[in-house]
Amino acid sequence: MKDTIVIGIESSCDETSCAIIKNGREILANIVSSQIDIHKKFGGVVPEVASRKHVEVISNVVKEAMEVSNINFKDIDLVAATYGPGLVGALLVGLSYAKGLALSINKPFVGVNHIEGHIAANYIAHKELEPPYLCLIVSGGHTHLVLVKDYTSFEIIGRTRDDAAGEAYDKVARALGLGYPGGPLIDALAKQGNDHAVDFPKAYLEDDSFDFSFSGLKSAVLNYLNKMNMTGTEIVKEDVAASFQRAVVEILVEKAIDAAKRYNMNTICLAGGVAANSKLREMMEKECVKNKIKFYFPPLNLCTDNAAMIASAGYYNYKNGIMSNLDLNAYPSLKIGQRL
Ligand code: KG4
Ligand code: ZN
Repeated sequence: MKDTIVIGIESSCDETSCAIIKNGREILANIVSSQIDIHKKFGGVVPEVASRKHVEVISNVVKEAMEVSNINFKDIDLVAATYGPGLVGALLVGLSYAKGLALSINKPFVGVNHIEGHIAANYIAHKELEPPYLCLIVSGGHTHLVLVKDYTSFEIIGRTRDDAAGEAYDKVARALGLGYPGGPLIDALAKQGNDHAVDFPKAYLEDDSFDFSFSGLKSAVLNYLNKMNMTGTEIVKEDVAASFQRAVVEILVEKAIDAAKRYNMNTICLAGGVAANSKLREMMEKECVKNKIKFYFPPLNLCTDNAAMIASAGYYNYKNGIMSNLDLNAYPSLKIGQRL
């Protein structure tokens, strides 16, 4: 059978990325240009700055992906780009570029949901993985437990009611004076700390709920730091990081395992930036082994934002007859499974 070559473009937040992939699962090129060093100065992503930076680099990122993959535009079968969720100005850069490209090379175009892209990162990493499975998506903007019924069919069974897991990491890191983005910094610091030093609260919500809430935990950490500062007590940052991380990871793992049992899923996948967390991987692995559940997670470079995952999700949309017109707009709060 003829190979299907997809070019993917991602610009929903602070990474400009272009990837070329074969048959939905094989990376020929995956170029990521990160703006982290620019946004670090501000302690978070500045939307206006992000859009401008995407404009500056996108042509070169695409050019580099074409060179690395050794593919000609005529060999491309589909152009895929993220159209939501994300920062509207940032999204519009990649989306408009992709639509222009599709028009100029006369190839079909499909808009991709960024979160569905994060899920698809697992298809690239694990060639044998097929739906159905349960996916825990944990990123800077999202925390979802999703039944992936098929490549393009999703049911959300749990979500955060306030902060996303990554957002909690970033806010706690800022309070500890660690810098941005906080996730990897807390992950590293926690390795040197005692994770039972402070007993931070975990929000289980209602008995049968698979929803999450991290704002109480975040406030508890901030209150703890305030109290320590006011009483002049020394703060052991390593212990705070480890104790906070234990609370986040325990709740994520417990709810994911319970959901897998409730919905008879024998496979759990992780997705999103927080899926890079070493403690989350370790604990989920342990609990999955104990419960005879298969466990998959993408390698670090496919956990955080990249265009390979977008191209993969685009491939499965295309194979399932989902296509977009060239008047597709950006949708900052696009939902999983929503088609516009
Ligand atoms: O998926 P992503 O790259 O962007 C969004 O779509 O949001 O996720 C970024 C988030 C940030 O909040 C960052 O702190 C977090 O992922 N993150 C981590 C780790 N690496 C990145 N959180 C915990 N542990 C990590 N090792
Ligand atoms: Zn993301």
